[in-house]
This record gives sequence, structure tokens and C-alpha cells, in this order.
Amino acid sequence: MTGPGAGDALFDNEDLAAGYVPPPSEEPAGEVDVTAVLPALADPGTVADVVAPQREIDTAVGEPLLRVSNLTMRFGGLTALDDMSFDIRRGEILGLIGPNGAGKTTCFNAITGVYKPTAGTVTFDGKQLGKQPRNAITRLGIARTFQNIRLFGEMTALENVVVGTDARHKTSVPGAILRTPRFHREERDAVERGMALLEFVGIAPRAVEKARNLSYGDQRRLEIARALATEPKLLCLDEPAAGFNPSEKSALMDLIRKIRDDGYTVLLIEHDMRLVMGVTDRIVVLEFGRKIADGLPEQIRQDPAVIAAYLGVPDEAEAAALVAPDGPPQLDPNEPSLFTNHAAEAATTYLPVYEQGGPPPEPEPVPEPAATAPDGAGEPLLVVEDMIVGYGRIEALHGISMHVAHGELVTLLGANGAGKTTTMRALSGLLPLQQGRVLFEGTDITRIKAPERVIQGLIQAPEGRGVFPGMTVQENLDMGCHARPFKKKAEYTQTLDWVFELFPRLLERRKQVGGTLSGGEQQMLAIGRALMARPKLLLLDEPSMGLAPMVIQQIFRIISEINDQGTTVLLVEQNAQQALTRSHRAYILETGSVTKTGGGRELLHDPAVKAAYLGVA
Ligand SMILES: Nc1ncnc2c1ncn2[C@@H]1O[C@H](COP(=O)(O)OP(=O)(O)OP(=O)(O)O)[C@@H](O)[C@H]1O
Ligand SMILES: [Mg+2]
Repeated sequence: MTGPGAGDALFDNEDLAAGYVPPPSEEPAGEVDVTAVLPALADPGTVADVVAPQREIDTAVGEPLLRVSNLTMRFGGLTALDDMSFDIRRGEILGLIGPNGAGKTTCFNAITGVYKPTAGTVTFDGKQLGKQPRNAITRLGIARTFQNIRLFGEMTALENVVVGTDARHKTSVPGAILRTPRFHREERDAVERGMALLEFVGIAPRAVEKARNLSYGDQRRLEIARALATEPKLLCLDEPAAGFNPSEKSALMDLIRKIRDDGYTVLLIEHDMRLVMGVTDRIVVLEFGRKIADGLPEQIRQDPAVIAAYLGVPDEAEAAALVAPDGPPQLDPNEPSLFTNHAAEAATTYLPVYEQGGPPPEPEPVPEPAATAPDGAGEPLLVVEDMIVGYGRIEALHGISMHVAHGELVTLLGANGAGKTTTMRALSGLLPLQQGRVLFEGTDITRIKAPERVIQGLIQAPEGRGVFPGMTVQENLDMGCHARPFKKKAEYTQTLDWVFELFPRLLERRKQVGGTLSGGEQQMLAIGRALMARPKLLLLDEPSMGLAPMVIQQIFRIISEINDQGTTVLLVEQNAQQALTRSHRAYILETGSVTKTGGGRELLHDPAVKAAYLGVA
């Protein structure tokens, strides 16, 4: 149900008028007076399963808010959802977890009317869904956020939320044109409510900022505010914590609880297990479109099938090796590498895909792995001097200086909004510097455009993936080497095979268009595409975002492997533990300035870093 809080302007909505009243705050958990949280006129028998915050829920009583029955969703030969059934009870936070590509987002899409299921039914609040268009489903009371954020970038944060309130407006089109008193009243209310919602999610100070200029974390909060603006009964959150650090995650947990305590029912997809286990009342686990478990967090955590399919077990041997005092084993510089320069070899063959436009430009030779120990003291590949970057009048980076030596793996750590992505974008040439210099291989590239930087070997796998949605997986990968084409077909094949070996899912889905891949699959594609360019400096912006726990372990192993094979890496990550463990050095960025730098492991043990980024005091 919507809206709680009598006297609270935020929820002063039609549902309140219809008899919804807030639960008394002093109500002890476990016992709830249903009349206090139900519409006065509702039949208590049908809604007796209303739950209080943190109440133990183990038996379904009465009608659930949402019932998914035998839902099947096929895309050609692929069965994304396979005879899946589950219920969501009113007032609970239900977690939906499972490996990348398990069908979680597809399930959201079927519930919210984006897809028409191949078979099965969805019943919401007593009504069977199926024929209603998406806006009607929103009006019925289902709202969602998106895995790949979908905001109106050119509109302000407040305007984005006000758009959400439109779903509830009653003014007719002529009324809006004639600007009737009702229209004015609704408009004023919408702005007030919008502001209150921004306050509620914690981004009110940024109300008049364009959505595209907000940090990723703030954009996610804004998506939640916009979804709440439609006054939903059920709020579906698709990976709301992606890209958050531990302290931001715990703030988000508080927000999700607050939303539930305000009377909303929440369906939550999330890969962060600490968050899922900490906030959900019950969890449904999917694998290959099938439900493999359904139970309380405690049960799910210990379920062998879930551990095998999704959670994995920490690789203790590997962890021990990583934190050994002398660090990970040194690489053998003579070992054959995919990134070795084969330019000297004869017989040049261009790939057919590039033949039409004439011979491609000569790519720079890829250097051999650095011979020096990667401790920052070696030959610098990238030097950043006193870099100032801003958005309009707002200065985002206040004079950052840093460097990355050949062969190093360096991490840039910082909270959302600290300026990490701004730094990455400036290094890629996507944002101009207001002051300062960027040197790449000793050459000043400050004024060099982004495409030219790519040709020189500075390659970014961007935050938010940037997969070409209409192109197939194969075409996306080919785009990766477009600016730095291979000279020999064998080299292309070798690199492609390597990418497929790193991400077998991409091989399986070679012909699938990028836009229909699951979030995690898109992330793999973005990294794979960057690797196809054989970067000299690989800029990875949150590579673990949206990946299932087991795949996260894999991805960091892959990053170390790429680095070991001679590619210099600058990494932005919220997963500080993994990133610092594997990094030679790291920089801590706080509100646009570098506040600390040091060896990866040294920072891992730094009390301030631990408190801020590892979620331990
Ligand atoms: N329109 C579509 N056409 C073809 N395949 C699709 C389509 N939509 C989804 N799929 C496939 O269905 C499977 C399930 O996708 P879904 O997005 O539901 O996964 P997910 O559980 O949300 O994964 P993630 O955690 O990575 O986001 C994936 O393998 C995906 O590639
Ligand atoms: Mg998904």
C-alpha cells in the first residue's frame, strides 16, 4: 500500500484520503495491529498477512500483494524464465537473487508489462495482469527502477521526480492547456512532493542539477525518488546499490527499510549479499530461469544449491597468497603474452570488416611488459598534473596530480561523487581540462581528442557499460578494435579467443544483440570490447558492478591476469578489498582532491581507509 504518514506532506495523497493511516511507531516488531496499517474499509481477512518491520515471516496468510504463477518467458531458443512461481506479501522486502543472466530483470519486465510472458500469470492486488499497457500497470501501483539507469539527463533532478507524479495527475489535456486551477494545484503539489521525495532519498541539495551531472549513486537515488513519485504499492528495485561503497550501501539499506516501514512493499534485485541478507525479509533464488530456493535469508545463506549456483565459497588459498607479505607471484617477462608486439612479424592481413574503408591507420606497437618492479617508480605511462575539471560553473576536480607507471595496476578509490568517473572521463578526453596537463608516454595529450587517445592505446571500459544496444556481441567486440585494428587475422582470432575464454558467456551469445543482454553480460561485453583494442593503458570504471559474487572473484582475477600480461591498468572500484589487494598502488579521492596515496596493501590496512571504504571500523 502507498502512503503512510498522516500530516506528512510527502504522503499526503489520495490513498491517505481513502483511509490509509500510518502504523504507530511504538508498535513492537512481531505484533501488528492490522487495522492501523490497512484501509479502514478493507476486509481484514484478505489482508491479514500485513507484516510489521522485521517481523519473522514464514507462513503465507491471505492474499499476497503479487502472485507470480508458472511464469515462462522465451526469447527464440532461450528460456529466460522457466515455470517460475512466487508470492510477495504486503509490506515485506523480498529479495530476488541469482547468477548473471538468471532471469531476474526479465522477471521485472514481465511484472511491469515490458514483456508479455510466453506462459503463466501475474496477479497484482487481486487483479490479473496481462492485457494492461505499462502506464496502466504503473497506475495500478507497480513502480520500478532500472538496472541501467534511465533518467531524463537534460532535466533537473526535481523535474525527473515531477514527471513521476504525472502518473497520478487527474487534470485532463484541455485542463492543462487552459491552465485550470486544478492544473495549477496539481503542479504545485507535484513540485512540493518532488522536493519532499528528494529529501527522503537524501539528494535534495542537488534538486536543480541536471540529472546527467549527478554522480552514479545520486542518479540511483533519483530513480528511486521518481519511482516513489508514482505512489506505488510495490516498488521494484533492480540493483539499486550497484556502484555504491560499503557506507553508501548501508545508507541505502536504511533507505530501503524506511521505504518498507512507510508501508511500501519492495521487490529487490541485488548482487551485494551483505545488503540482501541485511535488509530482506525473504529471498527467492533463480538459476537459469528456474526458482531454486525460496526462504528466509538465514536459510538461503546456508542452502547448498544456492552456494553452488551463486554465492560460491571464498577461495581461501588464493586470498592467503594475495595477502602474503611478498605479494602475488612475480610474472615471468619471457612468458608469451597476448599483448606482445607482433608488429615486427611479416605478412599483414587486415580483417575483412575493415577492408571497405581502405587500410586502417597503423596502430602503435604494444610495449612489452615493464621490466621494472611496478611500484610507481618505473617509467611513467600516464602523468596527470594539477588537473582541474568542472561541469559548468561547478568545479568537480580541484587540481589532481597522479601517475601510473608502465606495468602498474593502480586503483582510484573514493565515495560516489568524489570525482572518480570525472577523472576517467577527463583522461579519456571526454571532458575538457580547465587547468593542468595529462601526459601519455611522455607526450602532452591534454588537447588531444578522445578518438585519437584511443588510437594511441588509452582505452576505457566505461561505467554504465556503453554497450551498443543494436549491435550483436560479436559486432560490439569488433568495435573495440576498430580504431586499433589488428595487422594479422591470427592475432585478431587469438585476442578474440582469449576474450571468449575469459567470458564464455559472450561466446555463447555471440549473435545476441547487446541491448538484450543481462546487466552482468553487458559488463563482460564492455570489458571484452576494451580488451579487443589491446590497451596500453586500460581504464576500468567499476568493472565489478552488476556482477554476481562468484563472477566478481573471477573478474578481479582476470584484471590481475591482464595486468600480469603487460597491460597497465587504472581501476576505479567500489569493491575496495579486492581492488586494493590486487593493486600496486592506489589513490584516495575525496570531493575532487587526492587525499591519500600509497601501496595497495598499505592502504588496505589503513584505519581511515578501512572505515570509509571497507565497511569495518
Ligand atoms: N529480449 C531478449 N532477447 C534475447 N535474450 C534475452 C532478452 N532479454 C533477456 N535475455 C536473456 O535472458 C537471460 C536473462 O536475462 P536477465 O536480464 O533477466 O538476467 P538477470 O538475472 O537480470 O542477470 P544480471 O544479474 O546479469 O542482470 C539472459 O541470458 C539474457 O541474455
Ligand atoms: Mg538484471
